[in-house]
Amino acid sequence: MSKLLDQSVRDELEALASRYPKRAALLLPALHAAQKQSGWLSPEVLDEIAEWIGLHPAVVRQVASFYTMYYLKPVGTHVLRLCTNVSCSLRGADRLIAFCEKRLGIRRGETSLDGKVTLMEEECLGACGTAPALMLGDRYVESLDEAVLEKLFVELGL
Ligand code: FES
Repeated sequence: MSKLLDQSVRDELEALASRYPKRAALLLPALHAAQKQSGWLSPEVLDEIAEWIGLHPAVVRQVASFYTMYYLKPVGTHVLRLCTNVSCSLRGADRLIAFCEKRLGIRRGETSLDGKVTLMEEECLGACGTAPALMLGDRYVESLDEAVLEKLFVELGL
């Protein structure tokens, strides 16, 4: 493995490798570890993962581009992934996205100029019972309304 991935990421992946019959099975954990290191997955990092794991770079790109939790371009410090699927839409997700856009001064899919926040539309997060919902990193924020969002924005210093 070359130099784009930190030694700590390489060590983590080497430790995981012993649990799998083939390195190719490590693709998703490798993408997670690489993104945790630098916040997003550059083409060069994807190539490095492909080489280490022994898959064609196109396969690695296909997988990385399939899952919305992998970022193929730089994102803000905070990434808000607000679900707009059926249950959340029925409970006002479109109105809440519009609230976020106005409050944050960005449109869905954009990152603020100060790099603090990215706003994304997301498919079902599996939190339909407490819709509308969003994910902030690994954290769920559920039963959203404007007041909950405003409290979150203040907490994040936005
Ligand atoms: Fe939004 Fe399922 S539809 S969490």
